[in-house]
Amino acid sequence: MPGVVIIGAQWGDEGKGKVVDLLAADASTIVRFQGGNNAGHTIVRDGEEFKFHLIPSGILYEDKTCVIGNGVVVDPRVLLGEIDGLRRAGVGVGDLKISANAHLIMPYHVLLDTAGETKLGKHSIGTTRRGIGPCYADKALRLGIRVQDLLDEKILRTKIRAALEPKQQALRELSVLRRKRLKEAGEDAKAVSEPAGDGPDPRIDLHTMVEEHVAYGHRLEPHIADTAKLCWDALDADETVIFEGAQATLLDLDHGTYPFVTSSNPVAGAATVGAGVGPTDITEVWGVAKAYATRVGAGPFPTELHDETGERMVDQGREFGTTTGRRRRCGWIDLVALRYAVRLNRIDALAITKLDVLRGLGPLRVAVRYRSREGAVLDSFPYHQSILHSATPEYEELPGFDEEIGECRKEEELPRAARDFLAYIAEFTGVPVRLVGVGPARDQVVWLD
Ligand code: IMP
Repeated sequence: MPGVVIIGAQWGDEGKGKVVDLLAADASTIVRFQGGNNAGHTIVRDGEEFKFHLIPSGILYEDKTCVIGNGVVVDPRVLLGEIDGLRRAGVGVGDLKISANAHLIMPYHVLLDTAGETKLGKHSIGTTRRGIGPCYADKALRLGIRVQDLLDEKILRTKIRAALEPKQQALRELSVLRRKRLKEAGEDAKAVSEPAGDGPDPRIDLHTMVEEHVAYGHRLEPHIADTAKLCWDALDADETVIFEGAQATLLDLDHGTYPFVTSSNPVAGAATVGAGVGPTDITEVWGVAKAYATRVGAGPFPTELHDETGERMVDQGREFGTTTGRRRRCGWIDLVALRYAVRLNRIDALAITKLDVLRGLGPLRVAVRYRSREGAVLDSFPYHQSILHSATPEYEELPGFDEEIGECRKEEELPRAARDFLAYIAEFTGVPVRLVGVGPARDQVVWLD
């Protein structure tokens, strides 16, 4: 019963989609278990680039079941957009299944996300503004709307009405606050389009929302299923099921750099809850990490570079978000954080992506410990946010490489320095590097023993 979890081991955008796509070759089922359309996977196949936000990366295979699990938050408009896009590209979506228990991102969640960030001002988290946090909050408050509710207009109306009332009030208050701020700044408040003005906002009108969502329900109905059972059936038949994480370990709501995190649990353990399987269904955990590190949004990032090397990482790695287009913050690989991710997720194998980006950036640095403001040596990832915020990394320097590695397909074809760099990561974290990305295309990988 091979249940393989693939998760991000840094701050996201590690290239999980490509790793899932490759490992999915031997799987029957690929399941997303958390997050929503805050994620973005780019897969290049036969020269064609596909971008997904919600649909699991395995969709490009014809014979795989792709599942959006109960732990995912689904914006139905976005999902239908992706389904339509795939159909236009000639990709079949018949085997896409959506958990009836997954929660829906409603228009008011998106408005609340933006309004909340605006209210936080310079303390904002830098969310993707896709409504993720407010949707998970409603789930915990038991005010959420679930995928199955799309199939019953009466229930849908009752639930939206109940959920909407406190939102309208919150949005009104935020709107007043925003207008006040704009006025203080001498700007014309009326000229700015507000999330929700003093009058009713058509985007969150009850009648309109119900009508729209009933229509979404009609279109999604053939895909709605008991997806936990689907996973059990596959596992019990000895098929391989891949549990595909979104975001990453250091953005985990419980174990990441709170509050600069996402509102779900991207760690491997969450695959059980978000897909509906047991811990012993998981037989292998893969962690995906870039050969350097990136982060979008606010929050601590000890190895962040503000120099020319950081700029070159942005350029050479095309480090702009798939979802929001934001420029990613870049820095050297942080092995203190990676070792933390390895233990937290009990990672069995590492995939190191984008090694080619480090070409010409030598000598290569790897962070091996932090130093606190008071001068203490920190060998492990500090649990206290204030310490992490002010920690400075200490590096080991390794030789760089200038050779083009995009054509390498075997370990021995990689330059000596690149191999030594990978061996250092494996040694430091105690986990083998099994897969290395040497370029964006699907076949630009090197499998290691
Ligand atoms: P949210 O998930 O939109 O609420 O955003 C919370 C934090 O997680 C922000 O710092 C985002 O930039 C970050 N984040 C969310 N999704 C991703 C992702 O797929 N990759 C990288 N960062 C992400």
